[in-house]
Amino acid sequence: MPTIDTLLQQTSWTRDEICALLSVRDPAGIETIRAAADAMRQRECGDEVFFRGLVEFSNVCSCDCHYCGIRAGNPSVERYTLSADESVQAALWCADKGYGSVVLQSGERRDAAFVELVTEVVSRIKAGSVSAELPHGLGITLCVGEQPRETYARWRQAGAHRYLLRIETSSPRLFATLHPAHQTLANRQQCLRTLQEVGFQVGTGVMIGFPGQTVADLADDVLFFRDMDVDMIGMGPFIVHPQTPLAVHTATLAAQQQEIYQQALLMIAVVRLVLRDVNIAATTALQAMKPTGREEGLTYGANVIMPQLTPTRVRTHYQLYTGKPCMDESAEQCAACLAGRIRSVGRTIGYQRWGDAPHAQSRAPAPH
Ligand code: 5AD
Repeated sequence: MPTIDTLLQQTSWTRDEICALLSVRDPAGIETIRAAADAMRQRECGDEVFFRGLVEFSNVCSCDCHYCGIRAGNPSVERYTLSADESVQAALWCADKGYGSVVLQSGERRDAAFVELVTEVVSRIKAGSVSAELPHGLGITLCVGEQPRETYARWRQAGAHRYLLRIETSSPRLFATLHPAHQTLANRQQCLRTLQEVGFQVGTGVMIGFPGQTVADLADDVLFFRDMDVDMIGMGPFIVHPQTPLAVHTATLAAQQQEIYQQALLMIAVVRLVLRDVNIAATTALQAMKPTGREEGLTYGANVIMPQLTPTRVRTHYQLYTGKPCMDESAEQCAACLAGRIRSVGRTIGYQRWGDAPHAQSRAPAPH
């Protein structure tokens, strides 16, 4: 295998070479990869960090993913669904602050009332956020799971233009260890294709460090992202939640925390190098593992951050994993805190624009 320096002079990599990059453990080697990813981010995306105000509008979920704290089978969760008014209000607050984009995230439901709620909220946010600075209103990203084509098309029509659907892992074998039998990787992949067909900019991602996952699996994930031609990536470390089946691994995972965190950062860097001009989020899970996790993510190739807009009244009920930070801070405080974190790593905030990935812009302009 060539040295790290030689590998970093290449413009494309084989699976084995991606594995080699993801396997680097010595601090100097990691720093070399980080610096290369940071330079790639700078060249392809610039220094601006784009905010996506996050509204977790419901924790009601029909899925039973083995890793997730709000799984249907967790009776300890107090369930909530925000009214359309409350979701719209939270989103419009961020238009006022000049954020440019919001993410509406929730547990997964496919019933008619849910489809209607999302349609209404998207339409009202669009209508209410048009301004001189944002002539097409806020950019709206949805993160509400697997849905039939008609539903995706309806939400696209209502004005959402990005959709996040993580595959969690590109390995069918591992996917089966993380989910009940009726949830399949094949369906999730089909959903990603459908989302692209109905005109969304599509994001996906994986969790890093769950039991059984190897570096080779992560290399396959990178190749999957590349081959799917996605526009956005959201990835973070796996963090065990006590009221889930994966809690049996708590002790083993606790011993590997540092390693998992570093692997997550390295994965961000390698994805930046391979995919080049996509948007990559510095996710909250990084900060749950280490207080400076999100800004560190920004220095490894990420260029997007999602400030919390979920009303504090319900925020504690939306815990996919333990140790979620920023639980009792107002949206105002979150914004101020993140602005400081972004400044601390020498970057600026991209206000009053959607901040679509250059990758998506080069393919086709986002229709409004
Ligand atoms: N640890 C880390 N990430 C998690 N997610 C869900 N549960 C966990 C966990 N225990 C992530 C999944 C999901 C996203 C919304 O949150 O990747 O797609």
